[in-house]
Amino acid sequence: MLLLPLALALKTTLRNREQQQANLEQLRQLGLGNVISLPIYSDLPRGNYDFIVVGAGAAGCTLAARLSENPNWQVYLVEAGGVENIMHLVPLLAPALQLTASNWNYQSQPQPRACRGMPGNRCALPRGKVLGGTSSINFMIYNRGNRRDFDAWAERGNRGWSYDQVLPYFLRSESAQLLGLEQSPYHNHSGPLSVEDVRYRSRLAHAYVRAAQQAGHPRTDYNGESQLGVSYVQANTLKGRRHSAFRAYIEPVRQRRNNLHILTMARVTRVLIDDATKSAYGVELLHGGRHYQVRARKEVILSAGAFNSPQLLMLSGIGPEDNLRAIGVPVVQALPVGKLLYDHMCHFGPTFVTNTTGQTLFSSRLSVSTLKDFTLGRADTQLSSIGGVETLTFIKVPTAQTPENQPDIELIQVDGSLASDEGTALTKGANFKGEIYEKMYRHLARHQQDHFTFLVMQFKPQSVGRLWLHNRNPLEWPRIDPKYFSAEQDVEQLLDGIKEAIRIAQMPALQAIGARILDRPVPGCEDKPFGSDDYWRCSIRTLSYTLHHQVATCRMGPASDATAVVSPELKVHGMRKLRVVDTSVIPLPPTAHTNAAAFMIGEKAADLIRSDWL
Ligand SMILES: Cc1cc2nc3c(=O)[nH]c(=O)nc-3n(C[C@H](O)[C@H](O)[C@H](O)COP(=O)(O)OP(=O)(O)OC[C@H]3O[C@@H](n4cnc5c(N)ncnc54)[C@H](O)[C@@H]3O)c2cc1C
Ligand SMILES: *[C@@H]1O[C@H](CO)[C@@H](O)[C@H](O)[C@H]1NC(C)=O
Ligand SMILES: *[C@@H]1O[C@H](CO)[C@@H](O)[C@H](O)[C@H]1NC(C)=O
Repeated sequence: MLLLPLALALKTTLRNREQQQANLEQLRQLGLGNVISLPIYSDLPRGNYDFIVVGAGAAGCTLAARLSENPNWQVYLVEAGGVENIMHLVPLLAPALQLTASNWNYQSQPQPRACRGMPGNRCALPRGKVLGGTSSINFMIYNRGNRRDFDAWAERGNRGWSYDQVLPYFLRSESAQLLGLEQSPYHNHSGPLSVEDVRYRSRLAHAYVRAAQQAGHPRTDYNGESQLGVSYVQANTLKGRRHSAFRAYIEPVRQRRNNLHILTMARVTRVLIDDATKSAYGVELLHGGRHYQVRARKEVILSAGAFNSPQLLMLSGIGPEDNLRAIGVPVVQALPVGKLLYDHMCHFGPTFVTNTTGQTLFSSRLSVSTLKDFTLGRADTQLSSIGGVETLTFIKVPTAQTPENQPDIELIQVDGSLASDEGTALTKGANFKGEIYEKMYRHLARHQQDHFTFLVMQFKPQSVGRLWLHNRNPLEWPRIDPKYFSAEQDVEQLLDGIKEAIRIAQMPALQAIGARILDRPVPGCEDKPFGSDDYWRCSIRTLSYTLHHQVATCRMGPASDATAVVSPELKVHGMRKLRVVDTSVIPLPPTAHTNAAAFMIGEKAADLIRSDWL
């Protein structure tokens, strides 16, 4: 799944200035654009802007690009991180990015019922800190969600957000190159964001897809009419390179728009608010050791993500009264900011070993010629594998509570495991204890044993977490307590999912390659008979692995909804000229990964804002 040594090698190469210029020229010719930080992303605050967008993540880049299509609007996009480099472009290196400055590197509060495989029961909660945000460090899986998800948003009073109303915004952002789906009404081919098949596929993936079909899961397009079934993954890559929000929306228009101003390495510390009118009129930011106040004539838009948008609201006096009082921030507007936090928790495993050879990606196996092929533009090498993720299967399980055509569990089939990178980035990124790698996976790396792993993910958890501030220092972390597996039922659903993965592995297509479960017990669960329900329950609470789909910390809902922070127009309730536009507004955990929705929200917000000001 990852290649730390390669990453470091690439980084070292990039330190050499001359080589950097040469590489840059070569990469430009290959259509890879700029790979190093350039002065064009250092627009110091000057004068007034119409809109200030805080955070250049998936939603923020989309919104800033769309708003600046109007040459009369001056748009200021402010980002805490820097600019992507060549590492971000290599899909296989996704896990390694969590060890770089492109990650905010948050950790959860200790989780009594989960993450027992992590020191102090603290789960890692990475987030992107770079132009492109989390879309620049994520695993690039493109997945929108179930029709019923959005219809449920609308039923809660969020007018304009039903599936039929949001589908056009998903399509507006998409440029699909998907074999066999050329004519599908669910895909567009001329939007900014590239969606592709992953062109490197292992034999393990092919065998798995056949086995899933033998087990009764039909082939499907999980972004099409029905999610239920098995699909090869659809990825946000372009010609086998990561296509982040920055690459898709900002880079192509940057040189042509002198009304789009971008400042990187700048931390917004609060929103400036006129108390009398409760209007936002700008932001305060910290850049290069200096404080600036920047003014917005029309609106301030927070796109700082599911952890930082609520943090910024609270630092600005918008949040729960008790929390604001406790940290000494005067209350401007009492709202339930951070009171809800949903996420998608997974179980890391089971892992299956096979009799094949040369199909699993090990960092030590990566050859110079593969690297060369990739740099010369080939899109079908192992380096274009999105962190090893090959197929997705959307299933219903016996403990299901959702309606018939809505999946509750996803099986994410990944080539490799913690062994792929010899216990380095994947293990560290997830904050797994070293002994998990040592006892369960190390021997696979040593023998270069082919194998694949399932991440078993639950869509609709009953466990609900929250987020708060423990002081008013804007440079501190928000406190994040997802309360994973506080509801027993979530563990039972994952257990059902694990059983289905095991059942699929028994099908002829996987038996033909000798697939058998890796039966090294999880450290801490050795006292339970391997494979028993209690063993898996213990494993779920130990190898807890979030896919980072945190939502609802600035929940969207009508004014009558006591849990809502923003309106269906994404305006902060009770405030003027202030919106939140990112995944924090998503009111319920979706039947999907959350990146595609962030782009959709950015696209829709642009329309909402245009219709207000034009
Ligand atoms: C490791 C990982 C893997 C993932 N894999 C997938 C996947 O394969 N598929 C999928 O669909 N989803 C995936 N996700 C989730 C998905 O990427 C995110 O939900 C989505 O990108 C979030 O978009 P956003 O616009 O809400 O926020 P973000 O993209 O997080 O953007 C927020 C931006 O605001 C900036 N910011 C924050 N605070 C400040 C401040 N005070 N001042 C200035 N700037 C600030 C941040 O640096 C960041 O750039 C993954 C997430 C992670 C962490
Ligand atoms: C495809 O995307 C383009 C660009 O965003 C947009 O103009 C067009 O309407 C989209 N097509 C469909 C069918 O949504
Ligand atoms: C796979 O290898 C194991 C161990 O060598 C062997 O027992 C088994 O028969 C093989 N299975 C297949 C399908 O080749």
